[in-house]
Amino acid sequence: MPRARARTTTTVEPSEFARDLMAGLARTPRNVPPKYFYDAAGSALFDGICELPEYYPTRTELRILAERAPEIAAQIGPRAELVEFGAGSLTKVRLLFDAFKAEDAPRRYLPIDISGEHLEGAAERLRADYPELVVQPIVADYTMPLVLPATGAGVGQRVGFFPGSTIGNFHPEEALSFMQLAARLLRGGGMLVGVDLVKEPSRLHAAYNDAQGVTAAFNLNLLLRANRELGADFDLDAFGHYAFYNPLLQRIEMHLVSRRAQTVSIGGERFEFFEGESIHTENSHKFTVEGFRALAVRAGFRPGPVWTDEARLFSVHWLHAPAAQ
Ligand code: AVI
Repeated sequence: MPRARARTTTTVEPSEFARDLMAGLARTPRNVPPKYFYDAAGSALFDGICELPEYYPTRTELRILAERAPEIAAQIGPRAELVEFGAGSLTKVRLLFDAFKAEDAPRRYLPIDISGEHLEGAAERLRADYPELVVQPIVADYTMPLVLPATGAGVGQRVGFFPGSTIGNFHPEEALSFMQLAARLLRGGGMLVGVDLVKEPSRLHAAYNDAQGVTAAFNLNLLLRANRELGADFDLDAFGHYAFYNPLLQRIEMHLVSRRAQTVSIGGERFEFFEGESIHTENSHKFTVEGFRALAVRAGFRPGPVWTDEARLFSVHWLHAPAAQ
């Protein structure tokens, strides 16, 4: 594969991490936003996850994008402007560029990501490989309202790209508000979204409990990051990775469970854990095709074709964003 770096290093001020971590640990039940997984070590671990035999989403999505490239290109249309949300290393989008004849290829690409440094390097590599393409990285939090530069003359429709089922890491109400924001931003154009599907729980369980322990290391890296950046004293052996599928809420939940009663100190503040107490670190929602299309309709999109693999593990949705909303 082109390596799928669906996520990238998140540059956040330690003070923001400290504030969110301490607020999250003060809540009952304890929870920490998953965005803090993605420091340099966490991003590398996530890349490792994408290569695991058990973690089917990345390779399945890539296969769908590659096999359905002509149909997807037909929806995107000639001379488009592509906007990628949470762009990372800009690898998956290459499959879209490669699906066009030179004269119809996308004219402009706006990757949006919170990590400027990472984004600029990836943009440079892309410019070298696609010299005709205008690459304009935007360093921003794509879940916040933002204004895009006006589309130039001769440019086709504006198309959003949101692969990797990152939509599943939002709470349902956050997913809806992000999709509403995207529908406004892409008015008159469309959006391509990768969405992981509800399936046999054992398959999901394996994907988040891999035999090599990479997902466990990814989860525990959150505590390691707190030790490194905030001088916390988490004992990594005293917390265990626990991930399970919750069929009522159709989501994988990841937790870090305290193996014993213990006290952890962060920046002079002390947090007591009882044996078996959990820190909820991530949700990864799974959707039915119909469920995701219903969400898209609520957000103001008109759903178009959906492509899935034969085993219906993963789905890629084309959504029209009507001009008037
Ligand atoms: C980035 N995101 C879509 C991944 C997921 O599957 O929810 C993050 C991940 N967490 C554990 N494994 C992968």
